[in-house]
Amino acid sequence: MTAEYKVHGNVAVITLNNPPVNGLGLSTRLGITDGLTRANNDAAVTSIVLTGAGKAFSGGADIKEFGSPKALQEPNLLSVIVAVENSAKPVIAAIHSVAMGGGLELALGCHYRIAAPGTSIALPEVKLGLIPGAGGTQRLPRVLGCEVALNMIVSGEPVKSELIASMPGQKLFDKMAASADSLAEEALALAQAMAAKHADGSALPLVRNLPCKHPLGDAYFQFARNMVKGMSKNYPAPGKCVDAVQAATKNKFDAGMLIERDIFINLMMTPECRALRHLFVAERAASKIPDVPADTSQRAINSIAVIGAGTMGGGISMNFLNAGIPVKMLEMKQEALDRGIATIRKNYESQVKKGKLKQEKYEQRMSLLTTTLSYDDLKDADMVIEAVFEEMGVKQAVFTELDRVMKPGAILASNTSTLDVNQIAGFTKRPQDVIGTHFFSPANVMKLLEVVRGEKTGKDVLATVMALGKKIKKTSVVSGVCDGFIGNRMIEQYSRQAGFLLEEGCTPAQVDKAVEKFGFAMGPFRMGDLAGNDIGWAIRKRRNIEKPGMKYSKTADLLCELGRYGQKTGAGWYDYQAGKRDAIPSDIVVKMVEEHRKAVGITARKISDEEIVQRLVYSMVNEAAHILEEGIASKASDIDMVYLTGYGFPIYRGGPMHYADQVGLFNVVQSMNRFAKNPLDDGAFWQPAPLLAKLAAEGKTFN
Ligand code: NAI
Repeated sequence: MTAEYKVHGNVAVITLNNPPVNGLGLSTRLGITDGLTRANNDAAVTSIVLTGAGKAFSGGADIKEFGSPKALQEPNLLSVIVAVENSAKPVIAAIHSVAMGGGLELALGCHYRIAAPGTSIALPEVKLGLIPGAGGTQRLPRVLGCEVALNMIVSGEPVKSELIASMPGQKLFDKMAASADSLAEEALALAQAMAAKHADGSALPLVRNLPCKHPLGDAYFQFARNMVKGMSKNYPAPGKCVDAVQAATKNKFDAGMLIERDIFINLMMTPECRALRHLFVAERAASKIPDVPADTSQRAINSIAVIGAGTMGGGISMNFLNAGIPVKMLEMKQEALDRGIATIRKNYESQVKKGKLKQEKYEQRMSLLTTTLSYDDLKDADMVIEAVFEEMGVKQAVFTELDRVMKPGAILASNTSTLDVNQIAGFTKRPQDVIGTHFFSPANVMKLLEVVRGEKTGKDVLATVMALGKKIKKTSVVSGVCDGFIGNRMIEQYSRQAGFLLEEGCTPAQVDKAVEKFGFAMGPFRMGDLAGNDIGWAIRKRRNIEKPGMKYSKTADLLCELGRYGQKTGAGWYDYQAGKRDAIPSDIVVKMVEEHRKAVGITARKISDEEIVQRLVYSMVNEAAHILEEGIASKASDIDMVYLTGYGFPIYRGGPMHYADQVGLFNVVQSMNRFAKNPLDDGAFWQPAPLLAKLAAEGKTFN
């Protein structure tokens, strides 16, 4: 059992001990009920302290039991809390570090609570698309009032114990300990005092017996509901939090508990909740690489060199400066360095202006940044990241130099977005030290980092870079070497489909609207205008030579031939007014597309939003299935993470693979077979990837 039982004098202490955060898994729950029984059967014990070992009181549900029948096995959390309430001897929760979710609900079942300062208190279930399911919505408003409780439940955000303790009339904590160090001792003293107080047999206090009201009654909840609705439009859980807390004010405790249970179970089944839980698990899984064990040795990275101070080099550098790691930037000319530094300064200064960064922090970060024009100055850096022009010849020159100067054991990384990392590694005599770190633009903002594993990349190098990704707060996903890696290889298919849709009868605005209704922040054409349509144009020109005969719509090339590169030229798929970013449907573009259709002999047809979304999303899914087959990604959930953190795929749909799983792979394949018959589309592309066909036939899923 993962809870310890010890008796100190006449106080029994039950200590949850299930690292890292004392999750309330079955064996911990059994430990608690077992401890309660022992304490109640021991005549020498007069009171009980419930606390957590190590870094938490309890972080709530055990994620290892997520979605498994074990989570519901008796004693489930509800039964444990009832057992605590029913203890004949007072139970005192001694709370420190973290009390979240089920952990806080457990504490709320105790007769008394003492907390250490600095404890994070939260009911974060809403972040998984749920409401608290073990009495949190019924008990928290009884001790903190409806408004504070509802705010905590709807936001899921942690609040510090001392802030709660400072609220007049709060009943969450009976006492604050002077410090975390004195908590254990003070809890024992409180337990003894409460044992003495109730020695006469007087009833033990229970949160369930406290009244629950808001002075404005239903009016308050109506206001709260309106407010929450506006902020949570694709997510049902926040609105249900309001319903559950309101139920606490309108029902007896046990009836309120049934309402909470009912809402909880219904939310569990929603696609949004499934998606959020998938995201939670996928995020943790991304850092696990099948053949690189967690205890793989790592190299120490205490300094970074960055080659190229352009768009990416600057943003990449900021990540490390923010994490307190010194950076040396190298360029070919002083002017380029000056420009790069000025951009970094401008970025930080705007953060300072907005009050997001303190002046002294800004100066501290800038003091970690140095520059050079000479490769010899880089020799002591633990890792170098190259972000120069996207040309193999330039990469070759740079990596030959790096191989010459960098100290043995230094990691040599390339930020290339399209070039072959194996070939780049081949420019050095140490391919085991070479890796791709594909940042996304703006590199100081975007969460995603594709870590590109070359054929010869050392496991320790991979483990080191994954850990470094965590240090600079990125979501790191491992990709093998292929054209476009995971993300861009899939988006290429999506863009091709967008082009075909235009040819066949859509307008850019129609496609964008359909995709945005599906939940993407931006449709493909608005996105193209933002990123610059000329970038794709340049890549296509090169790729067409590489992949002869690949079918695509020429509309994007025609657009660029008109000089309509996007927002930066004031015109792209849409028209733009000077200084504004609003995309205005363009007659010129509509005409351009119509003329193109005429030239290639296509009669426009009406295309449904459903077809638009299916073709765009399933084209990515089919490509992703090839990516999995080839071992470029090691698991489907990694692909979802790439799209959720780097490409604006709607979070509540859980990523393309999770979404396809939910639609059902059989249905996805059926649609592909239909698209394959469209003579204007790329029929060969729509042949379902063998992996997808197999899973669909077997009734299985990607995840
Ligand atoms: P950029 O043109 O803004 O910057 C490149 C910088 O490298 C320039 O300042 C240039 O002076 C410098 N440079 C060129 N050759 C050099 C050499 N031999 N030695 C030292 N410095 C040299 O380009 P950007 O956009 O920053 O791209 C850099 C790399 O990042 C490319 O490989 C690109 O494919 C990749 N990338 C770009 C993304 C983007 O959205 N811009 C996204 C992801 C990757």
